[in-house]
Amino acid sequence: MDLNTPLLEVDGVTLQYKTPQHLVTATYRVDFKIWPSDRFVLLGPSGCGKSTLLKAVGGYMAPTEGEIRLRGRLVTDPGPDRMMVFQEFDQLLPWKTVKQNVVFALEASRRLSGREAEERANHYIDKVNLTKFADSYPHMLSGGMKQRVAIARGMAMEPDILLMDEPFAALDALTRRRMQDELMSLWEGTRFTVLFVTHSIPEAIKIGSRILLLSPHPGEVKAELNTATSPSEAMELEGRIQHMLFSEQIEVAENV
Ligand SMILES: Nc1ncnc2c1ncn2[C@@H]1O[C@H](COP(=O)(O)OP(=O)(O)OP(=O)(O)O)[C@@H](O)[C@H]1O
Ligand SMILES: [Mg+2]
Repeated sequence: MDLNTPLLEVDGVTLQYKTPQHLVTATYRVDFKIWPSDRFVLLGPSGCGKSTLLKAVGGYMAPTEGEIRLRGRLVTDPGPDRMMVFQEFDQLLPWKTVKQNVVFALEASRRLSGREAEERANHYIDKVNLTKFADSYPHMLSGGMKQRVAIARGMAMEPDILLMDEPFAALDALTRRRMQDELMSLWEGTRFTVLFVTHSIPEAIKIGSRILLLSPHPGEVKAELNTATSPSEAMELEGRIQHMLFSEQIEVAENV
């Protein structure tokens, strides 16, 4: 791949929902570029279009304006080169075991033989520390464990980019922090490229190597920030992001 071509390019992307009554503009002319091994975070308030952007990168929704390119090629459909991990715990097939959930996805999309799929599934299940639970069914697992299965399933496809939509938002605070640490150590091992959505500022700072700050609805790019490299920098960054996210409301309040 040409080193001057970004892995993913979102270029002037406006996304709209057309309902019989309304035209909802979710994002307006959003630009960003993701390079291999980036941990790129979309951060913004509820309703600013983060999930919609992820859907569009996933190929589930076409921009009304602008283009999305993966390795220079226009994204028009979903594909195994972009795997999604959702917030919900019910994204696994309940009638399949942990291993079967991963194997099924590999056989269906990557067209691996049964044996290859099983070997690869074992490898990634081990990476998320679930080998002992490989033959368990989803209802036997905690929320955090289910999310680890969803992550293993996504990673096993070895996509160009892993898309994560608030994957830890429904977890309790302690488990959430542990999952963030685990994601970081997984990343240290393989340096996969991830596009991570959150509305938590501390989570964005912890996970992201770069953070794209979106304005409230409709989402426009407010800033692109490099993440902190020390605890004091992290605190300073958190203050700066808070200021940028809330300054509009403050201006409004001061005008009243
Ligand atoms: N299927 C849909 N039909 C119509 N409008 C929609 C649909 N899905 C989302 N929207 C609207 O598009 C805008 C962006 O929604 P989106 O779900 O992308 O926001 P978000 O940033 O992911 O929010 P949250 O942090 O709450 O998940 C919102 O105004 C929402 O109401
Ligand atoms: Mg969302």
